[in-house]
Order: sequence, then C-alpha cells, then structure tokens
Amino acid sequence: MIAGIGAAVPAGIMTNADFERTLDTSDQWIVERTGIRERHIAGPTETLLSFTLVAARLAMERAGVTAADLDGIVFATVTPDRRLPSAACDLQAQLGATRAWAFDVVAACPGWLFGLSIAEGLMRAGLGDTILVIGAEKLSSITDYEDRSTAILFGDGAGAAILTRAKGDGRGMLASYMGSDGTLAPLLYIPGAGSAEPLTDQVLRDKKHLVKMAGREVFKAAVLAMSRATDEAIGRAGLPPEAIDLLIPHQANLRIIEATAKHAGISMDKVMVNLDRYGNTSSASIPLALQQAEAEGRLKPGMVAMLVSFGAGFTWASVVVRW
Ligand code: UT7
Repeated sequence: MIAGIGAAVPAGIMTNADFERTLDTSDQWIVERTGIRERHIAGPTETLLSFTLVAARLAMERAGVTAADLDGIVFATVTPDRRLPSAACDLQAQLGATRAWAFDVVAACPGWLFGLSIAEGLMRAGLGDTILVIGAEKLSSITDYEDRSTAILFGDGAGAAILTRAKGDGRGMLASYMGSDGTLAPLLYIPGAGSAEPLTDQVLRDKKHLVKMAGREVFKAAVLAMSRATDEAIGRAGLPPEAIDLLIPHQANLRIIEATAKHAGISMDKVMVNLDRYGNTSSASIPLALQQAEAEGRLKPGMVAMLVSFGAGFTWASVVVRW
C-alpha cells in the first residue's frame, strides 16, 4: 500500500505570457489546445536531486519511516542529473538509506507507475517491506525552448511514495498493468547524445540532445493507449467504472484527459486535473496529482483511485489503488 506520498517542484514559474515574449504563440492557443497555464522550471543551480530530496523526505515523513527503514529505492526518470551512476544511488547516498538497494527505471511518463508495479513485485518476491518509489524530472534540461510545439508543454517536478505491505484491510494496490510499443519510438524521442551518437559540438548544434515530438500523432496514440490502459485496469481490478472514486491521469493535455475519462465512463468531476499549474512533468505527473488530490481531501482512506499514464516508447500503464 502507499503509506505516504510527497511532492515538490522548483520555485521558478514560466507562464504562457513568458512564452508569448519569445515564441510565435499565445496564451489562448496554449490554453485551448493543452489546458496548460504555467509550469515550474528549475533554476540554474537546482538539480533534479535537489527537489527530489524534498519530495522523498515529505513522503517518508507522511509514512512515518526513516532512511534506515528503506529496503529499496526505485527512481523513475528520463532526466537524471548525470548518466552514471543512477539517480537512485545518488538519492540513496543523500538520504543515508544505507540498507536500501537502488536503481533507475526508464519508462518515460508512466515510469512512476512502472516503478510502483516493479516495487510491488519485488516486495512479493521477498526483497523488501519498505520501498521508496520516485517519479521525478527536470524536463527543462531536454526541452528545445525555440520549438513552440514542445517548449510550452513541459515542466519540472518530483513525486515520491513509500510503498509498504498491505495490512489486510483492503487498502493497497488492487491491479496493475503495463504495456509498450517500441515501433512508435520515432514519434517522441531524443535522437542523439546517447552511445550511438555521443555528444559532440555537431550534436549540440543540431539539437539532437533535445526532445522531438510529432504532437498530433502522439495525441492519437495517447488516446488509444490511455483507453486501453483504463480498460485493463478496470478489468483486472474486477470493478465497474462507477466504483472508481477518482481518475488520476497523466497530465499531458486536457483533451487527452477528457477523451480518456469519456472512454472509461467516468465524469470529469471525478478526474484530477492539475496540468494548468504544472504542465507535463512526465514521470512526476501522477504522483504530483495524487499528492494534491490527497491534500485537497479528494482522496480519502478507502476510496478507489485509477492511475493511468502513457509516454515515449511508447509506454503505458495503469494502477488501481484503494487509498
Ligand atoms: O507525455 C507525453 C506525450 N506528449 C503528449 O501527450 C503530447 C500530445 N500532443 C499534444 O498534446 C498536441 O498534439 C499538441 C498540444 C502538442 C499540439 O496540439 P495540436 O492541436 O495537435 O496541434 P498541431 O500539432 O496539429 O498543430 C496545429 C497548428 C500548426 O500550425 P499549422 O500547420 O496548422 O499552421 C502548428 O504549427 O498549431 C501550430 N502550433 C502552435 N501555434 C501556436 C503548434 N504549437 C503551437 C504553439 N502556439 N505553441
């Protein structure tokens, strides 16, 4: 079960008006086509770990656990502070979680849901009782701020959860599902700066180290993937759609969220939306929304939440949880 959740974002905010000053775009276009109004962006001295640490400590505090209690750390991110070692190992060191194993998960936006399912599986395999699952991104580090079709979408943020064994009171993860389709990779990817084409001046000049996206195609694939993931989650949990108290979808585009809710037969008053304030924060998106839902009293113990996400890969995932 999720025993505690925490979230943190860098203090700096970029509004749609800020983009109006540098790009051929408008607040009206961005709000109508995406639902986003502002996003948090890390300052020059803020690292991914700096705000992830805040989220992790909040989750631990909420769960009443200390670093010494952690058996493992699963860190979902596509924007680690450096390539080697993992962000999870850096976090383990900063927390002083000396007993914990630690590794990263690269599954893009649904990475945190992949992480939850992996952690639950490891728990079942006897590899831990208390696992910290992080979803955190500094997407500003891979965003092309001269490309209006992607620049306006992304934000930075971190979410964290402490996963512990269910207590047999019905609360906990009821179902999970993960899927991937690597044939869709060219729709949303970073072409260079990996081992196939290591970082050079030319790669930098060609901006091959930054995200490229075919927005319209991703949009269509996303609606299909999200719909499939909600069907699977509902089926696997053995629950009718009306049993879902709150849908917490990946916060990429309000129109994708609305299409997903409609497909699942869930009315928008039961859908958590906070992309207006954070934009798309990839793997941090769901834990940021989950934390806010709990803080606002929209998610109370015993309620059923369906978490669903999709992203680059393509990857998609869903988890049904009794809070
Ligand atoms: O988390 C991972 C996944 N990523 C996503 O979920 C993103 C999925 N895709 C989307 O959310 C949408 O496709 C976008 C928001 C990226 C784009 O919205 P759209 O309604 O699909 O627009 P479009 O790409 O079809 O472009 C329509 C027009 C184009 O102009 P022309 O060719 O019709 O003259 C674009 O150049 O809108 C133009 N455009 C913009 N105009 C003003 C694209 N970006 C902007 C912009 N401001 N920022």
